[in-house]
Amino acid sequence: MSNSLLISGASQIVTVRGRGPRRGAALSKIAVLHDGAILVRNGLISAVGPSAKVEKLADSKKAEKVEVGGRVVLPGFVDAHTHLIHAASRAEEYELRIRGASYEEIARQGGGILNSVKKLRAATAEELKGRARGFLEQFAEHGTTTIEAKSGYGLDVTSELRVLSLHKELDAEQPLEIVSTFLGAHVVPLEYRGTSEGKRQYLELLEKRMIPEIAQNGLAEFCDVFCERSAFSLSESRSVLKAGKARGLSPRIHAEQLSNTGATLMGIELGAASCDHLEYLKPADVRALAKSKTVATLLPGCDFHLGLRRYAPARELIDAGAIVGLATDFNPGTSPTLSMPMILSLACTQLRMTPAEAIAAATINAAYSLGREKRIGSIETGKQADMAVFEVADYREIPYYFGVNHCWMTMKRGEMVYLRD
Ligand code: NIG
Ligand code: FE
Repeated sequence: MSNSLLISGASQIVTVRGRGPRRGAALSKIAVLHDGAILVRNGLISAVGPSAKVEKLADSKKAEKVEVGGRVVLPGFVDAHTHLIHAASRAEEYELRIRGASYEEIARQGGGILNSVKKLRAATAEELKGRARGFLEQFAEHGTTTIEAKSGYGLDVTSELRVLSLHKELDAEQPLEIVSTFLGAHVVPLEYRGTSEGKRQYLELLEKRMIPEIAQNGLAEFCDVFCERSAFSLSESRSVLKAGKARGLSPRIHAEQLSNTGATLMGIELGAASCDHLEYLKPADVRALAKSKTVATLLPGCDFHLGLRRYAPARELIDAGAIVGLATDFNPGTSPTLSMPMILSLACTQLRMTPAEAIAAATINAAYSLGREKRIGSIETGKQADMAVFEVADYREIPYYFGVNHCWMTMKRGEMVYLRD
């Protein structure tokens, strides 16, 4: 078989080429090719441009032809915030919330994240892995080719290390790329609650035992913290992120999701790769993000699922010049979706981002937040051949047809990992 592939016949190739990350007006410049083709060699994009030119090159390389029949080609989505590994859904809490209980009330009664912790600890590694594999197939079916994955439902040494090891194993055993993040500071586990010393002891365990062991074994690239009144305070969060950073784990942070804690300013001060959620941003936070290299990763799936009707100020962020990203936040509590096309729909209708802005936020800017913008996030010569083809004629139809998955084919490093029957 030839190691070259020619992708031709697209109605549009959304290349998102050019310098990343994208800020302000540049976010919507996604560089669409109308009569274009892509040549893939050994898993990399070796040419992209006008069909006639690329096809001639393909002939000389005896490339195998992949005809996409008037569909739209996008860079594969980069989902830079997921809680991939969890043991079960929390559909019972979904119903309780519909009946009027709040997310924080449910958490105070031992539900929420602690509910998922109890279930994860009771599950075997094989069960967790099998379930995650199923999800990874679904990510691929929705056009996602790289995901970030957080621990945070283990919250003891054995369970956290087990989940992070599973990230590593899954990354090696299936085609999608998994970027591992340690989120031991998700909430204080039950066994450390109820005594005044408990939280301090848990933080000590995190910083003195878990982080060093994780760093030593290369089990995570990033360290995340849930900075919120019901989880960790600003100074506790800072301390954990600094401990991670000292061991080479770059900071990311769950910030201003349910209240404003100052997490965004603190994250920027520590050079965080990303501040995520941001529903309760203040104008000073927006200004600080605009001046920083920290990505503002917005997660509208959470607000939609929780029915909170308060979305992050995406327009203000974009207009101020912040680097805006988008992700699913796939998790059983606040955002049980792994569909980036659905996130694009929410970004367009609820965050008032244009389809072009949403696509750039979900590809090149998300790749930048994972430190991978030179390798993934756009269709450009020399980058990995990570692409998603959609059964539409115009890229705007991807968010427009909300709740329907139009992904027709997904390619990772030049390998077809999903093709609709
Ligand atoms: O990103 N906010 C904290 N963590 C998750 C929710 C986790 C859960 O409810 O299980 C989030 O929303
Ligand atoms: Fe999250």
